[in-house]
Amino acid sequence: MLSQRRAAPDPAFYIGEGKARELAATARDYEAGLAIFNDELSASQVRNLERLTGLKIMDRTTLILDIFASRARSREGKLQVELARLQYSLLHLIGAGQQLSRLGGGIGTRGPGETQLESDRRVIRRRIGELKNEIKAIRRHRSLHRQRRQRNKIPLISLVGYTNAGKSTLLNALTGAELYTADQLFATLDPTVRRAVLPGGRAVLLADTVGFIEKLPKTLETAFRATLEEINAADLLLHVVDLSRPHCLRQMDAVREQLQRIEPHYYLRELVAFNKIDCCNDSNFLNALQRQHPGALFISARSGAGLETLRNAIASRLEEGLERIKVYLPYSQTALIEQMQRFGKVLRVDYQPAYQAVDALVEPAMAARLIPYLEKPESGEQSDLENKNLERERDCDYA
Ligand code: GTP
Repeated sequence: MLSQRRAAPDPAFYIGEGKARELAATARDYEAGLAIFNDELSASQVRNLERLTGLKIMDRTTLILDIFASRARSREGKLQVELARLQYSLLHLIGAGQQLSRLGGGIGTRGPGETQLESDRRVIRRRIGELKNEIKAIRRHRSLHRQRRQRNKIPLISLVGYTNAGKSTLLNALTGAELYTADQLFATLDPTVRRAVLPGGRAVLLADTVGFIEKLPKTLETAFRATLEEINAADLLLHVVDLSRPHCLRQMDAVREQLQRIEPHYYLRELVAFNKIDCCNDSNFLNALQRQHPGALFISARSGAGLETLRNAIASRLEEGLERIKVYLPYSQTALIEQMQRFGKVLRVDYQPAYQAVDALVEPAMAARLIPYLEKPESGEQSDLENKNLERERDCDYA
């Protein structure tokens, strides 16, 4: 990493010309082909730096946009990121040759007397108009509730948090051991969504999200929120906070502020996990945090401390939305027990000669599928005693 202290950025190179030459030499030593600047550069600065150093130059905004593009999953998210990219390249058009070639659509034919620059601008503006219309149409037709119900078949947990909080490490720690070959298709399609099995055997999907960052350029806020749009579909938001950071509570509030803008009721589904407890031996600080955030978990994604408690906490939070059901399944329908386990939690199975009595917590959609099996096959009525037993077991099971 190179840094330079200057009273003001150099208009031609952002850094001084001498420093730019040093950058070229350092890049040669490391055989690097790309230099990333942690600030926004003007188009001419990018062009001048590329000429002088022979490197590809990327500024902070372009890098953030690339990360958003790789993380956007929904159609709207992808369109919002493309829109932000185009708006940025419109501002930086003089040096945007390479960015334009990435648009794929090609540049339209030039009108009479129109310069290349004017023609490029016209094409970009037209595409921006198309994108805005497409986004409007998607919003009109989006049925969030339907999407949520579909996703809810297997509960989805989104990991959110400030950049570097440890989300990816936690995702790996929670899913690593339980990755089945069958899940690899999902992993290939979207490496940021993985499957995990909770205590009790219930399967869940865990999705990593792009990290929140400081100094997010204003122009990228909409695109950023669009990449997080799937938060709306999540059953649980696992908010990972790095407690080893001096400003961890401020960062936590900044994340919550953004979540609030995406989903005003986000807090109903939020579960806070303070990560990196292995880095903190200040027990006063930990006690104070615990008092302030009684529902929060304290973990180390790296060492594994607290992960079992976290997995249990996730399981019980998800169970809050489950329905208790008792069904009488003929032996020909035994496969349904496995599905009840996948979409809920099987509490007890009684094997009788003619049926299996299954007591379980299941999601509403699964409960609807089980309606045909609510009645006992031969003797019919469920006795009062059985009902009382069910009540007692419920108290025990939840304890
Ligand atoms: P972004 O992708 O930038 O949003 O980061 P992230 O939140 O996914 O964080 P990541 O998992 O990449 O972890 C960031 C750094 O923190 C890495 O160097 C991890 O090894 C480290 N880390 C994660 N969890 C722990 C932990 O429990 N203890 C310690 N000491 N380090 C951790």
